[in-house]
Amino acid sequence: MNGKVLDIRDLSLRFATSAGPVHALRNITMAVPSGEIVGVVGESGSGKSTLALAVMRLLPGNATVTSGAIGFGGGDLLTLDEEAMRALRGNRIAMVFQDPMTSLNPVRSIGQQMVDIQHRGRASPAEKRRKAAAALKRVGMPDAESQLDRHPFQFSGGMRQRIAIAMALVQRPELLIADEVTTALDVTLEAQIIHLLRELRADIDGSILFISHNLGAIAEICDRVVVLYAGEVVEHGPIAEIFSHPQHPYTRALIACDPARISTATRELPVIPGDVPNLRHVADGCIFQPRCSVAIAKCAAERPPDRDCGAGHVARCHLVPEGLP
Ligand SMILES: Nc1ncnc2c1ncn2[C@@H]1O[C@H](COP(=O)(O)OP(=O)(O)OP(=O)(O)O)[C@@H](O)[C@H]1O
Ligand SMILES: [Mg+2]
Repeated sequence: MNGKVLDIRDLSLRFATSAGPVHALRNITMAVPSGEIVGVVGESGSGKSTLALAVMRLLPGNATVTSGAIGFGGGDLLTLDEEAMRALRGNRIAMVFQDPMTSLNPVRSIGQQMVDIQHRGRASPAEKRRKAAAALKRVGMPDAESQLDRHPFQFSGGMRQRIAIAMALVQRPELLIADEVTTALDVTLEAQIIHLLRELRADIDGSILFISHNLGAIAEICDRVVVLYAGEVVEHGPIAEIFSHPQHPYTRALIACDPARISTATRELPVIPGDVPNLRHVADGCIFQPRCSVAIAKCAAERPPDRDCGAGHVARCHLVPEGLP
């Protein structure tokens, strides 16, 4: 055991499109240490969901992994056969999506669905049903036992997300991937779900990959954070380090845009000027350079190195001085 539940190395993938290949992830290296919650943050289109789907091996048919390895449980998920991967999915690695209906079947009761996902377990049907009710109770479902016979549409959005989380956790996965699970919820529900995930992590002694474009949510729940920009990891490190000493201009800009830091008097949120680059033609130099307010000539010409900032904090930027720690 190397202390990492998930160990992604040099992962690159592209999507085939009629306009040519889209290089959506490029040389991603990141890990989820055992028992930790790691956040992945980045604007829309930065590749967060693609990364999650790559781990689950649920990528759409036009995706091709061109390099890398996804280490999990001592092996490489990319080399597992489909049957082995199916056995792992929902069992040792579970995923919850922004839209809970993605993981819920609209025509089956939630009890049936929660029993179904335990099909590999040897417990009796009654025992599986008891386990399902316990999981629902754990996520704050009142009167859990009697809710089992209801269908997903009979619950509110917040409750459906709790059900999706309960379903993901029935099997006590080693890794839970949560992709924007609070994005569709109001702030009160978001806070409740975040609190719940934090408790559940302790309960099941698992690890969580928490994907969000909301830095406030990331700060609330994560031990570490990976900042993704246009398919590249531009900065990563312990959460306190990243928030107190962000080194990459993109991370700084994201923090400046965090609604929690913006005066409540203004409702207009600042946005980072410019657009996420076209990933069909990835230029030389730094991927953020066209939008960077502090770029120098070198930034357009040369790929920046990953600079070690100490304490497990790394930033990919020419402007971070060498030997910072
Ligand atoms: N099936 C596909 N075919 C072609 N391009 C795709 C496909 N899926 C995703 N992409 C592209 O890959 C990039 C990353 O998309 P992805 O959905 O992973 O971003 P994201 O960070 O999850 O964004 P969001 O915050 O909006 O969920 C985008 O440029 C997107 O257009
Ligand atoms: Mg997404």
